[in-house]
Amino acid sequence: MKFDVVVIGSGPGGYVAAIRCAQLGFRTAIIERYPVLGGTCLNVGCIPSKALLDSSEHFHIAREKFTKHGIDISGLKLNLPQMIKRKGEVVLDNNKGVEFLMKKNKIEVLTGHGSFVNKNTIRVTTADGSTQELEADKVIIATGSKPIVPANFNYDKKRVITSTEALNIEKLPASMLVIGGGVIGLELGSVYARLGTEVHVVEYLDRIIPGMDSDCSRELMKSLKSLGMQFHLRHAVTEVTPSKNKVKVVAQSRDDEAKTMEWNVDYCLVAIGRRPYTDQLGLENVGIKTDAKGRIEVDAHLQTTVPGIYAIGDVIQGAMLAHKAEEEGVFVAETMAGEHPHINYNLIPGVVYTWPEVAGVGYTEEQLKEMGTPYKSGKFPFRALGRARASMDLDGMVKVLAHKETDEILGVHMVGARVADMIAEAVALMEFRASAEDVARMSHAHPTYTEAMKEAALAATGNRPLHL
Ligand code: FAD
Ligand code: NAI
Repeated sequence: MKFDVVVIGSGPGGYVAAIRCAQLGFRTAIIERYPVLGGTCLNVGCIPSKALLDSSEHFHIAREKFTKHGIDISGLKLNLPQMIKRKGEVVLDNNKGVEFLMKKNKIEVLTGHGSFVNKNTIRVTTADGSTQELEADKVIIATGSKPIVPANFNYDKKRVITSTEALNIEKLPASMLVIGGGVIGLELGSVYARLGTEVHVVEYLDRIIPGMDSDCSRELMKSLKSLGMQFHLRHAVTEVTPSKNKVKVVAQSRDDEAKTMEWNVDYCLVAIGRRPYTDQLGLENVGIKTDAKGRIEVDAHLQTTVPGIYAIGDVIQGAMLAHKAEEEGVFVAETMAGEHPHINYNLIPGVVYTWPEVAGVGYTEEQLKEMGTPYKSGKFPFRALGRARASMDLDGMVKVLAHKETDEILGVHMVGARVADMIAEAVALMEFRASAEDVARMSHAHPTYTEAMKEAALAATGNRPLHL
């Protein structure tokens, strides 16, 4: 079979690239090694984790807040197998959605492992070992990533687990230790903490979500501590030993080597980052180069070291985010069609779906300091919002960072209810290079959480918040 474009991998990068290629008139095929489409994001990432985050938050609210709202319930009981089942149904619905989109766009779907025979020939090997070869004018590699698990962490998928297994626990654990205070550790850690598990987080650095603005780290840690999660910062895990029903974890303080901590927990969730996935892809057969971290090297057009072969998403440099992969999928398709697309990487928002949520876009305050950019900052706390009081979601704040002289917004960082959605306003404003004064003069509906954005902008421009 011969195609204009063959896409390897059907995650948000790959399937979106395939759709855009088809829209632009390319005869397109997509290869996926698993029998379901959608990649990490849809099957074991974004979607199932958000399904469990939503379910567990409902349970938590019912237990902790209903009485205060004047709703008396008795006999509240957790049905974890049902929660997991619903999560599976959500995933299945999305799988069907991607399948439909492939059909609608007349994209040929091939199930099997793709690998390069040469620059224009891709072999597809199915689970039963049979093979077929596809001819491709151009190829897009969108093979994604896998969790990093050091060998001495004794990953057994039973007691020592990654996010993939943590999405399928059917009996509520009494205790769980999470290695890594990043996005996965905090999202999945909070799912279990809300349901009643004792959750410990061991983080190597001196703050959680270290890639985000440090005010967000501080605010989120306060909220997660009040949920009962316990944090052990500046600790390095030295031993992870699973037994039949438990796992022993030892961590050493980075400030005093003689100080160690030890836990005997039901599960140890390893969440210390992900690595690009290029296993048995045959990159060496075509001479595609990777960097020291195993990421496929690409130029400004996302073309690899081999002309006509592009790479996108988690398998290349940059944030490992579904929406970043999607933007890159569209970018490559349009580039191949001779268009001149653009991605502003600085304006790709980052979101953590804990409760309160965390969201940020643009530069963090630490980055501005490091770059020596003169800036001003305005902050507004959620607890001063009428809407937050009404919903009992008082934790959080919005911070607007603007250039000291020009007033252009350089970064917006938020912790609070629904900030995952609110960050879109900041992205739009920054795409259009708005100033803090522009936002300060825009009407924001009352009462909404979005008023915090206007108030933070008022605070940044001459310290004039109206409700503080
Ligand atoms: P992937 O989604 O990893 O897809 C790659 C696909 O390629 C896979 O299906 C794989 O089987 C297939 N493949 C690999 N090699 C081959 C081969 N040789 N032949 C054929 N097929 C192959 N991001 C967000 O933006 N928001 C979130 O809320 C979010 N939550 C997450 C939660 C968890 C628990 C995890 C683990 C990740 C989360 N992410 C989230 C990150 C997000 O999932 C990734 O950034 C995104 O999936 C990357 O997309 P991709 O297309 O590059 O690769
Ligand atoms: P991460 O990079 O977000 O966090 C890893 C954390 O582990 C960091 O804080 C790091 O300092 C710490 N760490 C590293 N080695 C350690 C060690 N040996 N001991 C203790 N701590 C250690 O990685 P994570 O959480 O695994 O997520 C992987 C990727 O998936 C992320 O890049 C993220 O972008 C993506 N993702 C995105 C989500 C979202 O957008 N909401 C949700 C979940 C994942």
